[in-house]
Amino acid sequence: MVQHHQHEVVIVGAGGAGLMAALYASRSADTAVLSKLYPTRSHTGAAQGGIGAALGNLEEDHADWHTFDTVKGSDYLGDQDAIEYMCTQAVPVVYELEHMGLPFSRNPDGTIAQRRFGGHTNNETKKPVMRSCYAADRTGHMILQTLYQQCIKNKVNFYDEFHVLDLLMRDGVVNGVVAVELATGDLHVFHAKSVVFATGGHGRVWEVTSNAYAYTGDGVAIAMRRGLPAQDLEFFQFHPTGIFKMGILITEGVRGEGGILVNDQGERFMERYAPTVKDLASRDVVSRSIFLEVKEGRGINGGRYVHLDMRPETVNKYAELDGRTGPDGKPLIVTGEQLLSKVPDIVDFARTYLGVDPIKELMPIQPTAHYAMGGIPTNFHTQVLADAKGAVVPGFFAAGEVACVSVHGANRLGTNSLLDLVVFGKEAGIKAAEYAKGADYKPLDEDPTAFTREQLDRLLAGKGGEKIVTIAEEMKMKMMDDVGVFRTAEGMHSAAEKMRELRSRYLNVSVDDHGRRFNTDLLNAWELGCLLDVALVTAVSAEARPESRGAHAREDFPQRDDANWLKHSLAWLDGDQVKLDYKPVTITKHQPMERVY
Ligand code: FUM
Repeated sequence: MVQHHQHEVVIVGAGGAGLMAALYASRSADTAVLSKLYPTRSHTGAAQGGIGAALGNLEEDHADWHTFDTVKGSDYLGDQDAIEYMCTQAVPVVYELEHMGLPFSRNPDGTIAQRRFGGHTNNETKKPVMRSCYAADRTGHMILQTLYQQCIKNKVNFYDEFHVLDLLMRDGVVNGVVAVELATGDLHVFHAKSVVFATGGHGRVWEVTSNAYAYTGDGVAIAMRRGLPAQDLEFFQFHPTGIFKMGILITEGVRGEGGILVNDQGERFMERYAPTVKDLASRDVVSRSIFLEVKEGRGINGGRYVHLDMRPETVNKYAELDGRTGPDGKPLIVTGEQLLSKVPDIVDFARTYLGVDPIKELMPIQPTAHYAMGGIPTNFHTQVLADAKGAVVPGFFAAGEVACVSVHGANRLGTNSLLDLVVFGKEAGIKAAEYAKGADYKPLDEDPTAFTREQLDRLLAGKGGEKIVTIAEEMKMKMMDDVGVFRTAEGMHSAAEKMRELRSRYLNVSVDDHGRRFNTDLLNAWELGCLLDVALVTAVSAEARPESRGAHAREDFPQRDDANWLKHSLAWLDGDQVKLDYKPVTITKHQPMERVY
């Protein structure tokens, strides 16, 4: 049975971007949020260390410095107009969250607490600056809870555990979505004037990842299946500190509070790779350094990991050397208890998953697939773009990790993801509601669920011997080995071929559960199809870029090539072919320079 609904604005995804969009859209338009999860289980809840804003609560800071750091961190691929907008909006939006009731940690004078984070600097001294506004190590969790409460107060319509499988368009204009209701298996058509995608990222493409199970690239895959491009998918960030083998995030806040990385020889190796900011270099730099240490045999016991040391004696030893001073200008000496209060979840995770007490012992860590810099192309008003010339898709908006604005370019700075969510989530809500007010409901096609049924029926009818778990494992291993931190033409080419093979084997998958209610077997199979699409486009886009920039580090082309490759990629998926086009980066104040940390 197909059920029909009508809302002026339909938002897909209930993480930070979706909820912020809902809050703003619902002030002037009838707004619904569809989430394949219960909203407070969204992946924003996993963001730990903070949200970046130049409040300057503890030391001098400026939105301009934040802008420059973000441009530099992006390896100059970020669009500078959008970055300036985000970093300028950061200060008022953080106060807005505070006024909504977000329980930030506090300085002794009552102001919002701030800590250091990778790549965020005092632009004059080049030293790390305290810019990350945090709520212990649960900042994303607090943002999610605060925004959800505000949305409930604002009477936003929530459709929880409604998994969106298709985007509806008529004559190039977006007019709704199709979702399956998890509890019943029923299909639902949502007729809308504006649709906002805030569906998150796709870290589940890789074997070791900090991403939730739900991060399966649905938004990008759905858009590509409707003939829209994906932008800059070759840039995927590996966070330096995931729990060894499991990938669970250990916040950069640990290093922000003075923790350091050490190799098998007990050496603080980041001093060699980034002499000024050391362990607080940008993530691409730190992840590559860890890989190089491992490659050169200095992983712990020769293994594929290094140690993160946040024992108070270590933190205090380096306080003076790193210039970490308190308000009295003296080196900031901390106790184990103080560290515990700043990163309580990390201490818990280490005890639970590693069996180590990080106040007394070292944590085994390795880089973990963390964040998609690429996604659905948008301008900084969150309008989705259809081509390299910037043609807008009427009625379609995207915000958060699924979108490529592009404020992160080739490498995102820590804390800029939560910032991106709230700044562009808000913009999406405002713009989607504005658009809806001036538009009519475009008629739906005669059979709007046809494409969705075709996809589900094929999976349900599958009689082949292929299992989703096998295909998923092969995809993850190959992408980890060949489209990970370091890449070569040969590796990326073979990854693309492997993804083509897996996509053809995927046509023969069979699911075990043929029931209707809570058929997660079927939906996991559908999600795997999305991951394979995104993985193929990632591998092809990466192979086509013969330079190293940000998170895209090629052993065969180790230099950045601004003369030829200072440009965004756009990729269209057609069968198993990927068509590529390119568009220029917006440069306003900051001409590309060599990145030195
Ligand atoms: O390290 C972290 O707390 C992660 C933050 C982020 O990805 O922005």
